[in-house]
Amino acid sequence: MTKFFGTMPSGEQASLYTISCGGITASITDCGAALMALTVPDSMGNLDDVVLGYECAEDCLKGSSYIGATVGRSANRIKGSAFSMGGRVYPLTPNEGNNNLHSGPDAYHLRLWRVVSHREDSISFLLHSPSGDQGFPGNADISVTYCLDGRGGLHITYDAVCDQDTVFNLTNHSYFNLAGHNHPEKAMGQLLTLPARFFTPADEESIPTGEMRPVSGTPMDFRTPKPIGQDMEEDYDALHLQHGYDHNFEVFCNPCAVLHDPESGRTMTVSTDCPGLQFYAGNFLSDCGKEGVFYGKHSGVALETQFYPDALHHPDWAQPVVKAGSRYHSETVYRFFW
Ligand code: BGC
Repeated sequence: MTKFFGTMPSGEQASLYTISCGGITASITDCGAALMALTVPDSMGNLDDVVLGYECAEDCLKGSSYIGATVGRSANRIKGSAFSMGGRVYPLTPNEGNNNLHSGPDAYHLRLWRVVSHREDSISFLLHSPSGDQGFPGNADISVTYCLDGRGGLHITYDAVCDQDTVFNLTNHSYFNLAGHNHPEKAMGQLLTLPARFFTPADEESIPTGEMRPVSGTPMDFRTPKPIGQDMEEDYDALHLQHGYDHNFEVFCNPCAVLHDPESGRTMTVSTDCPGLQFYAGNFLSDCGKEGVFYGKHSGVALETQFYPDALHHPDWAQPVVKAGSRYHSETVYRFFW
């Protein structure tokens, strides 16, 4: 099914596409190749929409929270909005103090992606990102595919190729609330498990210090299930938890995250081939969403698979760098049980 979803600043029309399989229905828009709705049964068979989303493309473009969007070329932060590659410095546009967040103001979630295939259970989008786009080198062709596997899994697959050495670090910025997006007050009570032994402590600008710190004995320890909000108010200054969780964790094993809502009985696991997981508790959410629901602070949780933030300045970490002509391929699976 395809629906009109609004008009882009260029005058082009945005659409909302639906895919369905095995009891799950997902709606995805070509505005930002963004996931706007995900309907999943609960243990009684009742359907709820478990992701935050917008009513129309105009709201997607106005929003500041990247809700559901495909983020690239480089997700998360790059310190000082510049990096070097092949002996050249590439300046980017700062959009958070001096730093670059999610590739700056001209982000991929503001673009109209081209639909290259739409089947009952999958949809693929393509974006051409010319050389110099956002400041990154090389002409890039990027595709993202959403596919339901009929066994509760939503697979998000990224493929990209560029004619110069470049940076690829693509992620999806969905916010989950397993009680349903229209129950913002229930998001922080859900139980999260992260097997990660280490996280990347960051400074007051959320730029990693370079250390991999053990989670043990800190509010970052989610190795056994814990309500998201439980330790959030803890006075752990050095971790900059004053607004809530917004930290990157090692992907130690898969699934790298399990979210469970005891009330509805829904569970979601996250599996990925990425080295890192940004766990963001929606600290700065303030958006008008679907069905007139207001998404305030902590209305949902983002579990974004990616390279470690600012990895380009930490050569000992896995690098989000892809050689000219080589393929970038990455896959994340959000799997639901009910
Ligand atoms: C970041 C947050 C940021 C948010 C914007 C997340 O990926 O970790 O710091 O505020 O994106 O929506």
